[in-house]
Amino acid sequence: MYTPQTIGTPLTQGALRVMLLGSGELGKEVAIAFQRLGVEVHAVDRYENAPAHQVAHFAYKVDLTDGKAVAELVDYIDPHFIVPEIEEIATATLVELEDSGRTVVPTARATRLTMNRQRIRKLAAVELGLPVAAYWFADDFDDFRAAIRHAGFPCIVKPIMSTSGRGQTVVRSEDDVLLAWETAQTGGRPERVIVERFIDFDFEITLLVVRSIDPTTGELATWFCEPIGHRQDASGYVESWQPMPLSPAALDSARSIAARITNALGGRGVFGVELFISGDEVYFSEVSPHPHDTGMVTLSTQRVDEFALHARAILGLPIDVTCISPGASAVIHGGTDATGPHYSGLASALAVPETDVRLFGKPESFAMRRMGVAISTAEDVVTARKRATEAASYVHVSGRPVDRSVPS
Ligand SMILES: Nc1ncnc2c1ncn2[C@@H]1O[C@H](COP(=O)(O)OP(=O)(O)O)[C@@H](O)[C@H]1O
Ligand SMILES: [Mg+2]
Repeated sequence: MYTPQTIGTPLTQGALRVMLLGSGELGKEVAIAFQRLGVEVHAVDRYENAPAHQVAHFAYKVDLTDGKAVAELVDYIDPHFIVPEIEEIATATLVELEDSGRTVVPTARATRLTMNRQRIRKLAAVELGLPVAAYWFADDFDDFRAAIRHAGFPCIVKPIMSTSGRGQTVVRSEDDVLLAWETAQTGGRPERVIVERFIDFDFEITLLVVRSIDPTTGELATWFCEPIGHRQDASGYVESWQPMPLSPAALDSARSIAARITNALGGRGVFGVELFISGDEVYFSEVSPHPHDTGMVTLSTQRVDEFALHARAILGLPIDVTCISPGASAVIHGGTDATGPHYSGLASALAVPETDVRLFGKPESFAMRRMGVAISTAEDVVTARKRATEAASYVHVSGRPVDRSVPS
């Protein structure tokens, strides 16, 4: 992986150039982190005025699943680092780009494996022997019924290529089976699905792992942030908090699993390792080879948040994972379909003690779309969660009011 010895000046020939593939709210914070280090930021997404577009030096609208278009843009920008933020990318092209000498963060292979639930299972469960929920794959309805019989009720069904809960169903009885199959076939053509045995976990966590160069040894090393607890619903994550206390045995297992999977993926950067905790048992669920949405809480809880850590790690710089305060984040959903939505209630939200709000500036709102987040700190996590949830509830997203000054 390329390690820059100097950082040039943005907007000059000598700039250090980073190309972000995906420009959502996570990319926006990564862009800001790089901007702060004087790195030239090129942000790419499939739609215009995406969150990171608005804070990057250069913005591009390109379909990231179109390998040819991505390769052409890479040639044009000539970035020192290609930094994916999302899973739906032409990862075969990233592998080719890496083979031709480009640096993909953390590695092209990591992006290829993690975008596909079957590939990452093969690595995690078969090759590394990590504990996971028992699983079966199915390509047609007959296979699917057999898989459900093996898994038993309840079980959970997911398309192998999907994120943010898309196409997922918890199957509780025979009555749910057909609908679960149909829900997973959202792409309009048969999609392979994974059927997982349901883990009745006590709670789930994200363990943020950072791989960078340790300045004392000059070697690659691994750091672990304090565990982040979170709560999910059909829209994805709704609430997260840090630190989430684990028993010493569970913390040991969590770190060991996280170290093994991230070591196998390789490269430098931040990884979000999702784990289910049941007593002292820890199950691997999935891993993002980039900052994690539940990690937005670190904007307030850590001395160096996960986005700044990602920027540092990519550049091979020193890492500091200190958690400076308990804290929590609560998602602000669109709640409505609107173009150019308006936000109200910010004054009430920010009147909640130790609270901050991020509005992502997405050009369009949908009912379940994540439009912002409230982040609070407190003496303890319970109070922080109350504060963040209360603050998020005050922010209201509405459609653009009709402009009556313009004659119709
Ligand atoms: N095998 C399982 N047992 C229990 N809950 C699960 C299981 N798999 C997923 N979940 C729940 O569904 C959520 C989303 O699943 P995940 O595999 O992380 O998909 P996504 O890629 O959409 O985030 C998890 O965070 C967890 O709450
Ligand atoms: Mg997940």
